[in-house]
Amino acid sequence: LFGLPDQPAHERVLLASDEATGLKTILAVHSTARGPAFGGCRFWTYGDDQAALTDALRLAQGMSLKNALADLPFGGGKAVILKPAGDFDRAALFTAFGRAVQSLNGAYITAEDVGTTTADMRVVQQNTPFVSGIPRDGAFGGDPSPKTAWGVFVSIEAGVKLHLKRESLAGVRVALQGLGAVGWHLAEFLHMAGAKLVVADVDAAKVARAQEKFGAVAVGIHEILSADVDVLAPCALGAVLNAQTVPQVRARLIAGAANNQLATVQDGDALHARGVMYLPDYLVNAGGIISVAREYRNEGEETAVMVEVTKIAERVAELLERVALSTGGTPARVADAWARSKLVRPAV
Ligand code: NAI
Repeated sequence: LFGLPDQPAHERVLLASDEATGLKTILAVHSTARGPAFGGCRFWTYGDDQAALTDALRLAQGMSLKNALADLPFGGGKAVILKPAGDFDRAALFTAFGRAVQSLNGAYITAEDVGTTTADMRVVQQNTPFVSGIPRDGAFGGDPSPKTAWGVFVSIEAGVKLHLKRESLAGVRVALQGLGAVGWHLAEFLHMAGAKLVVADVDAAKVARAQEKFGAVAVGIHEILSADVDVLAPCALGAVLNAQTVPQVRARLIAGAANNQLATVQDGDALHARGVMYLPDYLVNAGGIISVAREYRNEGEETAVMVEVTKIAERVAELLERVALSTGGTPARVADAWARSKLVRPAV
């Protein structure tokens, strides 16, 4: 339990359950070196408890790297709630989850992730102040996904210029896996910039809407990763870049929102060997945490947040420079070392 292979141990992991509501939750605090551990709460059906624990640990570590690279004064953590098998009272469940968050006394701050909503976070807030992703006074804040999508968009733009040597996104073919909260906003930004979209989602209605609104070409969920495109943007699930899929990737640039896209660091090596530039997920998908972190610190102001999120493109450029200067380094390994060097308390 103390650290996954090749990964440092987490500072603290809380397994909490509440019989009355059916809550089973894991709160993983990977690092508080930069400040309180900040990361969303995932509500998901897991095959077993071990799968939930592995997910929480991997996601928490990803948040440490993400928050460090984004220069946020926060460490990394994540919560998962195991979705109960039968009927359950959602409000009661998130009320109990709020108590679990509060029991860590601020070592961990929660927000939305896959399967949780702004409404859930309002419920959590009844029992703890250590929660974000809630519009304050009807003003700034709330759903982080448009900001996440913007960060992915500016990263794709930077990668297209620097790696594909194309001046703009006009006519660039982008395969989008997942048209959910982030994927849909990303499709809008890409379409407006003149990109040609190839899309896949398990939800046929979303695909039909993308065909109608963006003139997107639809492909099956098993064909999207090998689509004949310039850019691949995974915006659905983790571990999609693995030993089976990597040899089939035809895009020359990968940048998407999904957390933990690489199944292993060796899959990043294999992409690099094939000339595919993989922009690490935790670098490009930081827009959402930048937004909720600003909201949490009461520094939420739309323009300032957009400026900060747009800076992700500068970090993409810096990463490509660092990779070029390294001896045989891959983007995944270079980004990892860069982020780990920043797992220290920032100077105020
Ligand atoms: P979401 O749940 O709204 O969207 C996911 C979409 O992927 C859904 O439309 C779903 O039908 C589709 N999907 C599921 N399995 C699929 C498959 N096998 N093939 C194709 N499509 C499939 O989630 P959201 O918020 O858009 O997040 C997407 C990813 O980005 C997740 O991995 C999440 O952890 C990550 N992320 C999200 C952030 C946010 O601000 N929402 C921030 C950082 C990361």
